[in-house]
Amino acid sequence: MRSFRAFAPSNIALVKYMGKLDPERNLPANPSISMTLSALRTHAELEELPAASASEWRAELPAGAGASAKVPTLKPAGAQRVLGHLERIRAELPALLAPFASLGLGARLDQPFFALKSANTFPAASGIASSASSFAAVTLAGAQALCSDPDAFAREWKSRPELRRALARLARQGSGSACRSFEGPFVLWEGESAAPIPSALPALSHFAVVIASTEKSVSSSEAHHRVRTSPLWNGRPERAAARVSELSRAIAQGDLSSVSRIAWQEMWEMHSLFHTSEESFSYFAPGTTEVLAWLAPQLADSANPFVATLDAGPNVHLIVESRNREEWYARLRERFPLFEILQDSPGLGAELV
Ligand code: PMV
Repeated sequence: MRSFRAFAPSNIALVKYMGKLDPERNLPANPSISMTLSALRTHAELEELPAASASEWRAELPAGAGASAKVPTLKPAGAQRVLGHLERIRAELPALLAPFASLGLGARLDQPFFALKSANTFPAASGIASSASSFAAVTLAGAQALCSDPDAFAREWKSRPELRRALARLARQGSGSACRSFEGPFVLWEGESAAPIPSALPALSHFAVVIASTEKSVSSSEAHHRVRTSPLWNGRPERAAARVSELSRAIAQGDLSSVSRIAWQEMWEMHSLFHTSEESFSYFAPGTTEVLAWLAPQLADSANPFVATLDAGPNVHLIVESRNREEWYARLRERFPLFEILQDSPGLGAELV
């Protein structure tokens, strides 16, 4: 019985995807730019079940995930969402692979069902969003599993940008931000396309200050919907698009101070949309404000630029120059002894295992 394995890292947006043009296909209202992470990732495994009549989710550790990875506790709707994505891969793979027929890639004729397992390297209930990494990992393992020649797929997928990008488009339909986890370290997503952009930034390190790990009261799908009711939504897609242009220039020029300023403004804008939507909501926990208030005056130190941002959650993400990593870690540890601090670095995206 063959099994197919992949992992994909999480990514952290600097200009955020917030609001959908087409909710069915997860087409975004505005372009976004993220940094792909490395160690904070999801491992997925698909094991063939030839005699079965449907695929199933199994709450088991995938092979190769490492003993410390945590199997998520999926509610029935969560399991259904990811199994539905597997069926989407099955339905769309023939057309997706058609341009690569000369490489021997096509959809399998026997079309078996699978036992799907996944696990995250984030500590249990760290509050780090896993939908981007999970949908990217499942898309990659699923495409290999349903390909007529899995070995040729393994040889070709990484070296063919058009194939990687087609897989990113497929993953996007499961969870929008998943399309930015196929490449790295910086990825620009606009409409149907998600692709890496050039960077002249110095070596960087990432911290996530884990402030609260309770389940989100408002899902990101719901947030995408509600932000449109905020009076601040007016002009938001245009402002985000302008920030994307400015940010891609700053990344290409290695200008970390500008990256820092743009990401800070963008983070506050997204959370302001949440706080001002008609049915307003907040992801802030008391510790979030405490950490942001401690960071704010330090942003003015132009000799040591760093990036601070939040996702749709209470945890604070920091991107610092690697040469200052240990000093930052020590200061964070000392100032916030009660918060867990996860450490990571920029990465290059999903891989088959
Ligand atoms: O991919 P989704 O639908 O979970 O949306 C993610 C939205 C944010 O994480 C808040 C921003 C982003 O660009 O990742």
